[in-house]
Amino acid sequence: MRKLIAGMKISVDGKYEGPKFGADWVEAWSDDYGLTPQIDACLLGGGMYPGYEQYWTGIQNEPEKPAWITGNPPTPAELDWARFIKKTPHYVLSNKLTSAQWSNTRFVHGLEEIAALKQQSGKDIYLLGGARTAASLIDAGLVDEFRLIVYPLIAGEGKALFATSEKRRGLELRRVQQLKDGKIILIYGIE
Ligand SMILES: NC(=O)c1ccc[n+]([C@@H]2O[C@H](COP(=O)([O-])OP(=O)(O)OC[C@H]3O[C@@H](n4cnc5c(N)ncnc54)[C@H](OP(=O)(O)O)[C@@H]3O)[C@@H](O)[C@H]2O)c1
Repeated sequence: MRKLIAGMKISVDGKYEGPKFGADWVEAWSDDYGLTPQIDACLLGGGMYPGYEQYWTGIQNEPEKPAWITGNPPTPAELDWARFIKKTPHYVLSNKLTSAQWSNTRFVHGLEEIAALKQQSGKDIYLLGGARTAASLIDAGLVDEFRLIVYPLIAGEGKALFATSEKRRGLELRRVQQLKDGKIILIYGIE
């Protein structure tokens, strides 16, 4: 069965986003979890999809300009990701959204459809977030692995990852790796 692997970036105090829109301490939104070689589909929540589509469409269309949200020129890794997602199916969990600009985006409406996606043949599926979707899919037992990049920062005000989790879940620490600029990546298997 294909694995569903979530990847998210948090501060040391567990915030995935500051008090205003976005996590202004994140310098780039590429796949920094090392997942690209092992995935052939992306899954994300309806809350983050419109902003995600806008951010990456901007980079795809105007790669030389500063990216929306970060305000920085796209990094080489972001340019790689922008190319990768052009040819990669995206599944958006939503009962409100009905249309997307990208022709490779499909909507899924519930957990059964995600369970069915995992049964299809193919590589693993990358769950990009957001927070409520990650929490609800972990609660439902659908996420096999969680990759967290922890930034060396106490964000203070902001939104806490797992704030909406309803179930206690054991995690198996599989790998810890130091990244540049004081970040670390924690890779957990989910029982
Ligand atoms: N720090 C990071 O690494 C990171 C990564 C990704 C995103 N983010 C941030 O996260 C924010 C978005 O997160 P969010 O928690 O607000 O929204 P979200 O998780 O992207 O989306 C929530 C929506 O997904 C759908 N959904 C979730 N669970 C469902 C279920 N069990 N059954 C049916 N539908 C379900 C619902 O859509 P409908 O209401 O449309 O039905 C729900 O409103 C963004 O601001 C983004 O910047 C941060």
